[in-house]
Amino acid sequence: MIVTVSNHVDTYRVKAKFSRDVHQLDGRSGNRARTEFINRAILEVLAPQANQSLVDVGCGDGCLLQLLKQSGHSEALGVTATEEEERRLRALGLQVRQGFTDHLPVPAETADLVVCNGVFVIVPGQKIPASMREIARVAKPGALIFLGEIPQAAELANVPRSSTAAELLWYLLKTHGVRTFLGMCRRMLWSSLRGVPMVLNTAPNTEFYARPDDFVRLAADCGMQLERYFPAKDLDPSGAVKTMETRMNYLFKKAA
Ligand SMILES: C[S@@+](CC[C@H](N)C(=O)[O-])C[C@H]1O[C@@H](n2cnc3c(N)ncnc32)[C@H](O)[C@@H]1O
Repeated sequence: MIVTVSNHVDTYRVKAKFSRDVHQLDGRSGNRARTEFINRAILEVLAPQANQSLVDVGCGDGCLLQLLKQSGHSEALGVTATEEEERRLRALGLQVRQGFTDHLPVPAETADLVVCNGVFVIVPGQKIPASMREIARVAKPGALIFLGEIPQAAELANVPRSSTAAELLWYLLKTHGVRTFLGMCRRMLWSSLRGVPMVLNTAPNTEFYARPDDFVRLAADCGMQLERYFPAKDLDPSGAVKTMETRMNYLFKKAA
């Protein structure tokens, strides 16, 4: 099945509705090894105590919530953009509520830890200041806030967005040659056989990016003090750890 949408939220709605595998909600094509590696690294930075409440904004396939649950942590809430995702994740026994980064369904000053990883890249830029204020609002004074995978530059800015499969295939044939074209044909076939919807999204690949100085300044305006920032890490196809070239992780503390 191939579906065209015009924004990133609808991408996740379609995936939640039609994917057999809930891990398709991770934004990494269901690559569990990568998602687990990235979320374990976040927990290493935050080192949550069992009695600390954590909110995961844009919780994807619920990986971070699952890791916390496995370690006996019961105070974790996930926020996800669509009711469809909320339903899928609740069926796994996770605490999840639908909400948007700029309108969180969480009372003020209730979270000891807030995570928002790999989400701002797909949130329209004009919503980012309100989203940062929302995240600061739900954090308790002194809470740690992890904002991860923030691009420093527009990623894949030169790759046109296609609204039909034919358009996408034609673009790949023209610019990348027959091998890539056939690879995409195979992926489309594989998707339809495995019950994974293929979503063609016409929204920009990178909705938001910021240079570290600008991002830290914006966070400070929202009441978040920088603890440190560092390049985000991922796994390459062989499973080796690699640094993401364009993305930074930021650890902030809400002013006490
Ligand atoms: C790429 S996944 C991130 C998954 C997870 N944080 C991780 O790093 O493994 C994107 C998540 O962001 C959510 N999302 C997208 N736009 C959002 C918005 N405007 N407000 C809240 N969540 C949003 C989606 O519902 C999805 O859960």
